[in-house]
Formats: sequence, C-alpha cells, structure tokens
Amino acid sequence: MLCVYLALSKKISIADLGAVIVLIGQFLQNFTNFINQINGIHGEALSVHSAMGYFGLLAEKREKTLHSVDTVNFKNVSYAYPEEETSAVKNISITLKKGETIAVVGKNGSGKSTLSKLVLGLINPTNGEIKIGNDPMCDVSYETLYKPATAVFQDYVHYAMSVKDNISISNCESPLKADDACQLLKNLGITFVDENSNITMQTELGVEFGGVDLFGGQWQQLAIARAAYREAKIIVLDEPSSALDPLREAELYDTFKKLCENKIGIIITHRLGMCMFADKVLVLDDGEMVEFGTKEELLKNNGIYARMFQLQQGLYAE
Ligand SMILES: Nc1ncnc2c1ncn2[C@@H]1O[C@H](COP(=O)(O)OP(=O)(O)OP(=O)(O)O)[C@@H](O)[C@H]1O
Ligand SMILES: [Mg+2]
Repeated sequence: MLCVYLALSKKISIADLGAVIVLIGQFLQNFTNFINQINGIHGEALSVHSAMGYFGLLAEKREKTLHSVDTVNFKNVSYAYPEEETSAVKNISITLKKGETIAVVGKNGSGKSTLSKLVLGLINPTNGEIKIGNDPMCDVSYETLYKPATAVFQDYVHYAMSVKDNISISNCESPLKADDACQLLKNLGITFVDENSNITMQTELGVEFGGVDLFGGQWQQLAIARAAYREAKIIVLDEPSSALDPLREAELYDTFKKLCENKIGIIITHRLGMCMFADKVLVLDDGEMVEFGTKEELLKNNGIYARMFQLQQGLYAE
C-alpha cells in the first residue's frame, strides 16, 4: 500500500513499483516453500524415527539363546506405533502351540499384521510380555529369535534376481540347486516356472534391471516358495492369497496347509475359506481380541465371525 501511495504521489516510479511487487511475490513464494520444507522435515523425521527404532532393535544387546519354540505366549500384550496415541493391538493374552494353526481375521486396520509382527519379534510390546517357550522374547538374541521363523508378508518383496535366487534368498546358508528348486515348486503346486516355458529357474526378474516382470499372483507364489524354503518352526502367512485368482487360491489351499503343518502357524486372511484348515480362529476388532475358538464355536456364538461367514456365504449363494 505504501509503495502504491509513493508511486501515486510520484515519489517512486511505476517501474520501481513493479519491481517491488515482483520482489514481494518472490518473497511470498520463498516463504511458502520454506514452510512446506518444514512440514516435509517433520514427515521425514517421523520416518527416520521409525527406521532408527528398527535399527535400535538390532543394536540392542541380547545374549540369550532360544531354547524351545513349542509355544508362543502373549500375556496382556499391547503395542502402539511410535508417535501414535492409540494402541494398534490391545491387551492380548493367548498361547500359540506347535502343531496348531490360528487364522486371524478382522476388518482393515484391526491389528492383524501388527499382531503377526509381534509374534515374529519384529516389534516389541509396549505393554505386557511375550514368551517363546520359557524364554521372555525380549531377552532372546535376534539371531536365535529370527532363525526358526518364516513369513509371507502382505507387501512381499520383488527381488530383481533370478527366479532361483528369489527363492533361495530366504536361506542363504544353503543355496538352492536348480533341480531342487524345480522339485520344491512342484511340491508346492506352483506351475508357472517350467524349463520348457519362457520363465525358467534362471530367468532374471525385475524390469528395473532389464529383467522379466511377473504378474502379481506369480510374485506372490514366489514369496510363498521363499517362505517354504526356509526350515521354520513358526510361520506367518499374511494374506498369502490376496493376489491369486480364486482357482489358483483353491489349488494352493493344500500348500498352505502343508506349510503350516507341525509348526506354530498364523494365517491372516479376509477370505474365510482360508480358515478351513485352521484349528482355531482369532477375531480382532480395533486391536482387541473379541473372539477366539474353533470355527464351530464361533459360528454358534453368533458374533463377528458368524456375521462375516454368513455375509461371504451369501455372496456365493444364488
Ligand atoms: N507403521 C505404522 N505406523 C503407525 N501406525 C500404523 C503402522 N502400521 C499400522 N498402523 C496402524 O495400526 C493399526 C493396525 O494396523 P494393521 O496393519 O495391523 O491392521 P490390519 O488388520 O493388518 O489391516 P489390513 O487388513 O488392512 O491389512 C491401524 O490403525 C494402522 O493404521
Ligand atoms: Mg495387514
């Protein structure tokens, strides 16, 4: 306003007024950029905080060797993510046993994946205690804790490596021979890799480095093979069939069942058909364990599981 007044009263020229307006414009633009950068720094700081939390976990000194992996016992376990006020998993008490497969169901964001990360020791409870056998999980060295565990995560990784290496990377100590890899896939019922097709054990994958890209379901099947190749006592399958078409999913039911056999098995799923081979079903709602029992018990209870079951059944009825 002052500049306009000065220009009108001819104390500064119109050209000077123009220059001042451009300068003010630039200043405002730079100021906005500066504020945006500060916002960005806050966002980055949160991610770095989570990453540092993870590396902090690895740096922690834990000396104890794991003795037995026959049970995983949760006692009043809760977990809140860093910077979050509400817990993603709340006050869970449960014992998982060798030879038993538990299906975990519940709506999006109910805490299923968080629960699985707790079982695997990838995150530590913010309250309560987890014991593996008789050993408190928080005392056990990461080396011995992670060795007996395997998982197919929801966001499984696409490794830009050969098909064979995509499988054997889960067990670097014993690299896989091509023939053994073929046999493993055959046993799992995975058929898209075939020495007579355009995808063989040696095919390099990943378009980033000029390799072949796979369909989502094919990448997921490789993630399943990778999990199977690791000798494990605890297995977590987090939505292992989400990218598979219904036929492929049905064909792989036996595979999932076999993978969980004689282990502590956790299978997280939105498709209740996958609960078929689970011994028990755990229903999470807003982080809380609201139902736990056999499918038959939960159907009788007429709670969330029964409603989900009826809803999905209704979708397939004529
Ligand atoms: N890294 C994270 N940082 C902060 N909050 C998170 C993080 N991961 C998950 N959450 C939150 O924790 C809660 C539980 O998430 P979780 O992923 O365990 O749910 P879920 O049952 O596996 O969901 P979905 O069915 O969508 O996979 C959600 O509110 C989610 O937003
Ligand atoms: Mg999840």
